[in-house]
Amino acid sequence: MKGIVLAGGNGTRLHPLTLSVSKQLMPIYDKPMIYYPLSTLIAAGIHEILIISTPKDLPLFERLLGDGSHWGCVFSYAEQNEPKGLAEAFIIGESFIGSSSVALVLGDNLFHGGKLAQQLAGLNKMDGGHIFAYQVKDPTRYGVVEFDANNRIISLEEKPNNPKSSYAVPGIYFYDNTVVQKARALQPSDRGELEITDINKRYLAEQKLHLSPLETGSAWLDTGTIESLMEASQYVQTLQSRQGVLVGSPEVAAYTSNAISLEQLLALADKLSHTPYGEAIKSLTK
Ligand code: TTP
Repeated sequence: MKGIVLAGGNGTRLHPLTLSVSKQLMPIYDKPMIYYPLSTLIAAGIHEILIISTPKDLPLFERLLGDGSHWGCVFSYAEQNEPKGLAEAFIIGESFIGSSSVALVLGDNLFHGGKLAQQLAGLNKMDGGHIFAYQVKDPTRYGVVEFDANNRIISLEEKPNNPKSSYAVPGIYFYDNTVVQKARALQPSDRGELEITDINKRYLAEQKLHLSPLETGSAWLDTGTIESLMEASQYVQTLQSRQGVLVGSPEVAAYTSNAISLEQLLALADKLSHTPYGEAIKSLTK
């Protein structure tokens, strides 16, 4: 399975922070935002990853992440000229995807949880699509999924005024290869975007859309507003300082998913040894 991190958009809700710098390069505590979704893919064993961003910001991501080889991964890059919707990622990424199945993660979504990596790694042989559900206080801001006691999906709605459930669909999606042709067949919505919810509806119509609630104890934070950006930083700081874990470390994710050896991890930590981040990687290896 291949992976795509979608890290474009306008980031208007974070102005003036994001007037000159991409949202997904903003710090979440001690790392750039994109480290978090990237680590989620890497920890799930997805090591061939396409990063999509705006023409203006893409060079900055290339400078930050390089070709991925230092983390045992293969990174490539593609531009999205305008934010025409999440589903456009599969059209932009068509040649990268080739004949594989693909996971898409949004560049401003942070996932954390004990068994999350195993839950995601179990999806590497896709037939259809797989989405997740996470209970939230304000579902009107999200894609909303209604489902029964057997996790069978009853309805999907994009940012509904009167949501039928309190479960949002987090920004990580797994699809088989038919996602490319499904994306190509989409028409823009009323707000002018190719909607991921419309892709999901197509899988649902084929009775091939699967759903799992995110593992109990997993956290999902989206970091697109100034409050949620701050909360995410505080969440990461609290976990790291109280529990001695590292949240959203691509280096650690690369090691735990066997993309790099312990020696390689230690060498990466050495390069960062003048920072608490490097020290934290080192102490984890003990
Ligand atoms: P949003 O947060 O919905 O949009 P945004 O990032 O442009 O922010 P704002 O609403 O404040 O203007 O996007 C969710 C994620 O998806 C985010 O990481 C940006 C990314 N995205 C793209 O890369 N391309 C797109 O066409 C869209 C719609 C979003």
